[in-house]
Amino acid sequence: MIVEINNLVKRYENNIAVDHINLSIKEGDIYGLLGPNGAGKTTLINTMLCLSRINEGQIKIFGKDLYSQEEEIKKEIGIVPQDVAIYDDLTTYENLVFFGKLYGLKGNLLKNRIDETLEFIGLQDKKKAYPKKFSGGMKRRLNIGCAILHQPKLIIMDEPTVGIDPQSRNQILESVKILNEKGSTIIYTSHYMEEIEEICKTITIIDHGRVIASGTKEELKNLISFEDRITIRLAKANNNLCNEIKSIDQVKECIVEDNRLTIVSSKNSKNLGRIIDVITQQNSLIQEINLEKPTLEGVFLTLTGRTLRD
Ligand SMILES: Nc1ncnc2c1ncn2[C@@H]1O[C@H](COP(=O)(O)OP(=O)(O)OP(=O)(O)O)[C@@H](O)[C@H]1O
Ligand SMILES: [Mg+2]
Repeated sequence: MIVEINNLVKRYENNIAVDHINLSIKEGDIYGLLGPNGAGKTTLINTMLCLSRINEGQIKIFGKDLYSQEEEIKKEIGIVPQDVAIYDDLTTYENLVFFGKLYGLKGNLLKNRIDETLEFIGLQDKKKAYPKKFSGGMKRRLNIGCAILHQPKLIIMDEPTVGIDPQSRNQILESVKILNEKGSTIIYTSHYMEEIEEICKTITIIDHGRVIASGTKEELKNLISFEDRITIRLAKANNNLCNEIKSIDQVKECIVEDNRLTIVSSKNSKNLGRIIDVITQQNSLIQEINLEKPTLEGVFLTLTGRTLRD
């Protein structure tokens, strides 16, 4: 495990921001922390960077105790904080020099890493420009550049796509995947379930400082779903066809409406093939098939009784 957190507690006066959290993050993962505003994502990350003192628990990173080997550990971490942290009155290039030197890079190595990074974040033609004139997305990309120059083993990104244009957002999501393929483990926080779902291999849902659920997206969705819902649009549908589909084992429901069948079947019953067979035997023409899958939003709703965007 690259990160192991045991029974972590962080309180702010009377408020418990991290409430007995346990996490294990595998090397090579893109680990998503999904939770609404105030869930405790940033506080949890700050404790991992020693920016926030903890009340109880242990944190191990790279197999080492964070509090006894802080300096060694932090050299191998890249952090993209929730609030952009770059210097407005340094150029793009100067910002990269500054952060590269902080991590001990110099000379040709520093220069080469900066060139590679500029290309990676798509800001080659802005290297002499000042970030104060940048869009939110460009600032974010520069901030990511500053965090990855030293090729860290672990990259932590705290809501890096909030409030930016779709193009920068896609570019950032792509770059997360590439950084992971090149060998970095990524911790990625967001309250956008769609992007967590798109890029993360393991997802932990947190709310009120507690872990609500954790697993792959399939595992999380299986928590709430015992059924598949299939809709099929036909050139012509009738009750007779519907009754025949209903007689298939583990089909629980079939409704026909405007030539559209809505079928509820037990999860993983592999009934889709049987249903299509019945339709084909009746010579009905299939125009559209949809397997409606449960979403992470649905998981959150079922487990907490609230929506993610409350
Ligand atoms: N410095 C602080 N002093 C007091 N309370 C704090 C402080 N920082 C955070 N909190 C509280 O701790 C809880 C968790 O906040 P945190 O910022 O970690 O949530 P988050 O999941 O990162 O939310 P967001 O999505 O809005 O960034 C909240 O109730 C917040 O009000
Ligand atoms: Mg936060």
